[in-house]
Amino acid sequence: MQRLTNKRIILGITGGIAAYKSAELTRLYKTAGADVRVVMTPAATEFITPLTLQALSGNPVHTALLDPEAEAGMGHIELARWADLIVIAPASADFIARLKSGMANDLLTTLCLASDAPLALAPAMNQAMWRSTQTQSNVFDLLQQQVVFWGPDSGEQACGDVGPGRMLEPGAIAQLSAELYTTKLLSGKTVFITAGPTREAIDPVRYISNHSSGKMGYALAVAAVEAGAKVKLISGPVILPCPERVERVMIESAEQMLASVLEDIDACDIFIGCAAVADFRPAHQAEQKIKKGSSDTISLLMSKNPDIIATVAQRTHKPFTVGFAAETENMQEYARGKLEQKNLDLIAANDVSNTEIGFNSDENALTLISDKQQLVLEQASKAVLAQQLIRHIALLMTQRIDP
Ligand code: PMT
Repeated sequence: MQRLTNKRIILGITGGIAAYKSAELTRLYKTAGADVRVVMTPAATEFITPLTLQALSGNPVHTALLDPEAEAGMGHIELARWADLIVIAPASADFIARLKSGMANDLLTTLCLASDAPLALAPAMNQAMWRSTQTQSNVFDLLQQQVVFWGPDSGEQACGDVGPGRMLEPGAIAQLSAELYTTKLLSGKTVFITAGPTREAIDPVRYISNHSSGKMGYALAVAAVEAGAKVKLISGPVILPCPERVERVMIESAEQMLASVLEDIDACDIFIGCAAVADFRPAHQAEQKIKKGSSDTISLLMSKNPDIIATVAQRTHKPFTVGFAAETENMQEYARGKLEQKNLDLIAANDVSNTEIGFNSDENALTLISDKQQLVLEQASKAVLAQQLIRHIALLMTQRIDP
């Protein structure tokens, strides 16, 4: 359901007994990270109170077209432009008929007319009303206009009838809403992503590491899943939860990360090295905790860690290989150097001298450098940048001549 994070959803509720299920749908959208604005027809307010939906959505509920107070807040045209998605659940037979006729005689129909956002309807009505020629003809016409219908379900109805007309359960509607945001850009592809820091042990209680939070790599995993890919996320120690539909392997050291990457590397079509891998590890790991002793200084002999991404990129059948370059100066020059030395197809350079972006921040800014192209992705959330990077990778892959 992560695909609904930051999505702006108008949930329209029309008059029908299934209106009570919209409370749960509102809660599910909120839990998924969506910003929800509820719009109710006057009939809907007979079944469930606006106050309930206001408490669950955390936003004022809109009920009337000509409400000066609501218009002073977010006017109906502004609301129509604000929405990424409009979901009407339940959608009554009357609402479907009015929508099909292009009417704008209440706030909800007006919003549907005034918005370019995708529109999905979850019908709920008596089975005879659903099967009637008029309703079926209205549904047919709306389908031609790219309106999406979810359901109805079939079964026992509140009126005692049995048949089609039950609103889909809120969980199913939330799931279908999320699926609207799945693209097919990487469908059939397997993507390996490394994320987070590595920890290189000095003794049983001490280690060398860095400030990587894993946020950038995890955002990439979400974006790759959304693009239809199968994703393996090889993660250093971070506190982030595993994204949905992602196979995650938790590791500690660079050597463990390499072993996990190589385990099933033949299956990998795209490799993205976002992890901040320690370049060196203590040459000897003490078996017992090192004692302070009497000396004011101690020396730590360090050994070079394997270069994971370079190992992947050296393979005869190398996956499309994307590196990251965390730089504090001469960003483009150093990043281009890594692109060439490590035999990468693309490198995403970020300026980690800027504390607002990069390590442990929710935002980043990337310069994407490949053999012939350079593209600047301006500062934005890591979620947005991850989607842009995945789109760029998909584009470059279409231009790639397989080795
Ligand atoms: O995790 P966040 O807090 O969200 O921060 C994100 C980030 C800043 C860590 C990320 O955007 C980033 O820049 N990751 C790469 C950091 C890095 O170690 O860069 P590098 O220039 O040292 O390494 C270049 C590339 O080689 C990287 O793809 C790295 O994963 C890879 N590498 C490096 C060393 C090594 N031994 N093996 C590797 O695979």
